[in-house]
Amino acid sequence: NTKGHHPGKEAAGRAAAELVKDGSIVGLGTGSTTAYAIKALGEKVKKGLDIRAVVTSYQSEMLAIQAGIPLTSLAENPVLDIAIDGADEVDSNLNVVKGGGGAHFREKVVSLSANKFIVVVDDSKISDTISMAIPLEVLPCARELVQQQVAQMGGKASIRPASRKDGPVISDNGNFIMDAAFGEIPNPQEFADKLSNVVGIVEHGIFTNTDKVYIGYKDGKIELRE
Ligand code: A5P
Repeated sequence: NTKGHHPGKEAAGRAAAELVKDGSIVGLGTGSTTAYAIKALGEKVKKGLDIRAVVTSYQSEMLAIQAGIPLTSLAENPVLDIAIDGADEVDSNLNVVKGGGGAHFREKVVSLSANKFIVVVDDSKISDTISMAIPLEVLPCARELVQQQVAQMGGKASIRPASRKDGPVISDNGNFIMDAAFGEIPNPQEFADKLSNVVGIVEHGIFTNTDKVYIGYKDGKIELRE
């Protein structure tokens, strides 16, 4: 879904870019909505905005370089002023599911390093209760153990198949991506804590640290939830 023009995603991405102040260290998420924010920030940098960015994936690294945004790292700048990222599902309490692009581990590290975590989505991502399968980054040697533990929690974890190669999706960190279906998750914080206890999961895709969500609509209108 990175192909084609999405007015809703663009509106949300551009709105979030407006929050970035001169002199900021910015976390850049991954995906097609964040790509619009990165593009908008690149335009501002060309006009003199002074920022440095920490990326969350090879994709956002390439987009940031292309946009002319100077890069830094969490090693040099452990505290970010703001992080902007997309999401795959947003519930009514600003809990979000990420990892549709398999980048949620570094996205979580970056979002938790930021003073403000801003999520940008189009309206297709909104639901009352989280119900999509939760992306998991899993150590390859632990895949069977993770499947067993997820089954004990009442879910079903499957290895995400790659579309242009045989076998599993491999994350930027060299791990497997699995998707664990549990049905509706009414208590995301409690559930996130349980998933954090599953041995072999490097990180799961439930984020409970969102400060603001910009929702973009096809007609270019934006809704802010905070
Ligand atoms: C990457 O793993 C994800 O967390 C993305 O941020 C998420 O999939 C959003 O992507 P889109 O903006 O392309 O929908």
